[in-house]
Formats: sequence, structure tokens, C-alpha cells
Amino acid sequence: MIRPSTTLLLHDKFGRRISDLRISITDRCNYKCVYCRTGNEGALYGDLAFTDYLRMARVLVGMGITKVRLTGGEPLLRKGVVEFVRELSQLRASDGSKDGDPLDIALTTNGHLLAELAQPLKGAGLTRVTVSMDAVDPDRFARITRVPGGYDRVLAGIRAARRAGLWPLKVNCVLMRGFNEDQVIPFGMFAREEGVVVRFIEFMPLEEDRVWSPETVVRLEEILARMAEYRPLVEIPHARSETARRYRFDDGIGEIGIIAPVSHPFCGHCSRIRITCDGKIRTCLFSVWDHDLYAEMRRGASDEEMAEFIRGVVAKKEERHHIGEPDFVPASRTMVHIGG
Ligand code: GTP
Ligand code: 5AD
Repeated sequence: MIRPSTTLLLHDKFGRRISDLRISITDRCNYKCVYCRTGNEGALYGDLAFTDYLRMARVLVGMGITKVRLTGGEPLLRKGVVEFVRELSQLRASDGSKDGDPLDIALTTNGHLLAELAQPLKGAGLTRVTVSMDAVDPDRFARITRVPGGYDRVLAGIRAARRAGLWPLKVNCVLMRGFNEDQVIPFGMFAREEGVVVRFIEFMPLEEDRVWSPETVVRLEEILARMAEYRPLVEIPHARSETARRYRFDDGIGEIGIIAPVSHPFCGHCSRIRITCDGKIRTCLFSVWDHDLYAEMRRGASDEEMAEFIRGVVAKKEERHHIGEPDFVPASRTMVHIGG
């Protein structure tokens, strides 16, 4: 493995250290959530072979990546994902001063296929899982996902992941006005009953149907006010690079988080880069261009040349997003083609 000296760790020009890699392994998805997909089939960019993602990950881990999250589309649609996790788990993280630590390997899924795969994934070395779930009511859930019958499967997936020890288990709930803002308290109860961390996410303009407007966003303050009608919350400290503000209930039972990229952006502490399913690097969810790492590989670049390419791309990482500002330019890809 390439072992980085501390000066060779990945940094951007604003001094942010990049330690968190997200790899989308497919942009296919079996759900059509209103805040993400179009109700139609939608275009696809196509996947790479797992060996290609693995090489990219190996080079990036050699540059100081310590956390890898698999995303999609829906990553569990991809045959061979368990073996891919096993291969990834052989890589060793290094922060430049010491190496040998296992990577933190996480996965974001809609949970539809998780009940069958939770135990094999854990056995292969997956550390954690985040499940997207936007209502705790089967009918509402179907209205949001635009697929009937998923609710019970996702619930079974969450429970199987808990049993398998994929821990801490986070549930992502994107709030969208008119669809699920009344689910705040039910999700507070769910967090307490199921022992999961429910994170409410402000809707961002990354959806295929382009329905976002400032009015569709349910903001942090409103989420807090709604939850306060149920039980008092106490804020708990969070890591600077973490997306979510964290809260526990006053009696110590249950944790929730709020991810507020629209009302309280966290770009200043961003530690993330993304590889799309077709092998492009994206330095921001809102990038208007991407960088073709796969083309470098295809032209025969060595690991060192790939590292040099990555370094040049990361140096130019965007300072922040411009959601809601007059100069906002939509990202060149929607969320399903980036990975969350
Ligand atoms: P961990 O913190 O490793 O547990 O990751 P996670 O995927 O569970 O959650 P994370 O906090 O990384 O991301 C959850 C959600 O936050 C995503 O689905 C996005 O909606 C949002 N998010 C993540 N990264 C970014 C980012 O770089 N910019 C913005 N604007 N939003 C982000
Ligand atoms: N705004 C905010 N979060 C989104 N996600 C998908 N689309 C959006 C959006 N437009 C989140 C979902 C999912 C993760 C992959 O990305 O919560 O868990």
C-alpha cells in the first residue's frame, strides 16, 4: 500500500482534510422517492466493475481516507456487494503517522433488501449502515417512495441490521413539506422504541423532478419546535466534520439528529469526496463538473499518477454550496447519480 506522510494527506486549498470517501456502486434504484427520483424510469450512467472501484479506493486510502461509504442508487441491487465489502475490509487506513487501522466501512441503503443481506454484510466487514426511511406509516411511505409494499420490508431490514450488530444504526428521513412534516413526532417515538438514531434532513435541490423551492424545506428550527411538543431535547456535542446536529431526549432514551445543509450549511468542515458509479470524482454534492478518474485508469495511469490526478482535483474542491442564493447553479447531476 502507498503510505502517506502527513504532508501528503489529501487537503483542499481551504485547508480542509479529506478523509471521507463515498463510492456509488450503481445509480439504479428500486424506489422512486419524491425528493430524489422522477416517477419515470430516468436515465442511467452505468456501473464499473468492483475491481475498478477497489483500485480507486486503494489509491485513496493510501492518501489518508479512513472512512468509506457505499451509496447508490440503491447499492444492495448490485450483485457481489458482499464480496466487495470483504475486499474493502482488507485495506488498512493510515493517517500518516501510523497505519494498520481497519477502515470504517458504511453503507446507505433504502433497506428493501437489507433483511437478507445484513448478516452477510456484517460478516464481510461492514461496520455501519444508514437506512433511508421517510415515514413511519405504510401508506405514507408508499406515497413517498412511489412503490407499494416496501414499509414492512424496510422495517424488517432495520431490525435485521440491529441484530447483526451494524451499529450505530442511523435512519435518514428527508422532510418535504406536504409529504411528511407531520412525521417528526412519530419518528421521535420510533427512535426511542427501535433504538436507532433518526436524522431529519432538510430537502436540497438535487432531485430529478426539480420541484424544490425554499417553501418545500422543513427547517431545523421547525423540526425542533415540532419535537419539543413531544418531549424536551438536549443537544449533545458532535464532531466538526459530522453533518448532523445531535440531540437526546431529556430522559436519556433515544437520539435524533438534524442535518440542515439549507438553513445551517456545514461546508466549512467538509471532509468528503465522492466517486460516482461511472468512476468520476465529485468534490461537492453541488459540483457543476466532475473529474474522470476512470478515464485515467483506462489510459493506463499508474497508482502514483492516479494519486497526482486526485490531488489536483481535490485542491479545487468548492468552498461551499449556494442553495437559495441568486447565483445558485444546479448541480450537474441529481442525487441518484451522485450517491448521498
Ligand atoms: P456518517 O456521518 O458517516 O454516519 O454518514 P451518513 O451517510 O450516515 O450521513 P451523512 O451525515 O454523511 O449524510 C447524510 C445526509 O446528509 C446525506 O444523505 C445528504 O442528504 C446530507 N449530506 C451529506 N454530505 C453532504 C455534503 O457534503 N453537503 C451537503 N449539502 N449535504 C450533505
Ligand atoms: N435532499 C436531501 N437529502 C436527500 N437524499 C436524497 N435526495 C435528497 C435531497 N434532495 C438523501 C436520502 C438518502 C441519501 C442517499 O440521500 O436521505 O438517505
